[in-house]
Amino acid sequence: MSASDLIANLEKLGDEFLQLIQPLGDEQTIRAAQAQFLGKKGKVSEVMRELSKLAPADRPLVGAAVNKVKQTIEERVTERLGELASAAARADLARVVDVTLPPHPAPAGHLHLLTQVRLEAVQIFSELGFVVADGPQIETDWHTFEALAIPKEHPARDMQDTFYVSDEIVLRTHTSPVQVRTMQLTPPPIRIVAPGVVYRRDDDPTHSPMFTQIEGLAVDVDISFADLKGVLLHFVKRFFARDLAIRLRPSYFPFVEPGAEVDMQCSFCMGAAPAVASCRVCKGTGFVEIGGCGMVDPEVFAHVKIDAEKYTGFAFGMGLERMAMLRHGVNDIKFYYEGDVRFLEQF
Ligand code: DAH
Repeated sequence: MSASDLIANLEKLGDEFLQLIQPLGDEQTIRAAQAQFLGKKGKVSEVMRELSKLAPADRPLVGAAVNKVKQTIEERVTERLGELASAAARADLARVVDVTLPPHPAPAGHLHLLTQVRLEAVQIFSELGFVVADGPQIETDWHTFEALAIPKEHPARDMQDTFYVSDEIVLRTHTSPVQVRTMQLTPPPIRIVAPGVVYRRDDDPTHSPMFTQIEGLAVDVDISFADLKGVLLHFVKRFFARDLAIRLRPSYFPFVEPGAEVDMQCSFCMGAAPAVASCRVCKGTGFVEIGGCGMVDPEVFAHVKIDAEKYTGFAFGMGLERMAMLRHGVNDIKFYYEGDVRFLEQF
């Protein structure tokens, strides 16, 4: 092949490449096309191999043409890749970041219903001058029973089926041992509430082996049963945000005398005819039981060395699951503990 034929071929290859690359839209195929022309076995390299066959005088001209087509191809590749990159960048921008759109809400949790109820109860009592007291959940038999006038073999021990850790250590069955611990540590006047978890061998739709109570204790000179009733009535009205009545029904708890069960007007039917007749919550009675209460028994004062001639006191204990159930219509105590967000997120 003559030098001028080779030069014409090289020019054709240049044009051919420019046409080939035009529609290519990604780096990989562009690089492949480049190799097809400039690679070791590429079309331009083939032409270069002919160079050696030429007369020495012709070689520089053809060599220059080779360099020129190489340069053309390389420049075009660089240019085309640049075009693609800026097109991609433009597309990216055009994809639009609308800064006025609201953000995706981050899922946020909230306090568990029982925690809310506990904090609310504490808040209401603290407005009346009560402070929070605490005690261990793994408690001595003495604090849980003995000091509360429930000696071993006393039939009242059967009222609360107990988990024993050892002969002398139990999982507290009620928050009442916090009364004992407080009175041991603090001379009157005393006004405490003690919310906390308690344990009993019980398991059915209305009982759980672990549940929550709030205990109250006030000890001072001249504390009367009327004070107790006033505090409980205020609490119920505030907690339910309604003008509900309460009823103190004489009952027996070894650590109080007199003792009573605390009933409140049914918050579902309000005890009003005709709804009350078929009310499943109060079973037609118009009242529901929410806890126990009474005046601190002198025997308890004796255990904690408080002078029963000088001081009197009242105490009460209520179930917080029950309070939440009555306010929110929760009908199975298990819902509180299963951690199902479909339940929890309603509150
Ligand atoms: N501790 C009792 C229980 O869990 C409830 C109770 C009754 C607490 C009378 C009191 C009280 O403080 O005075 O069944």
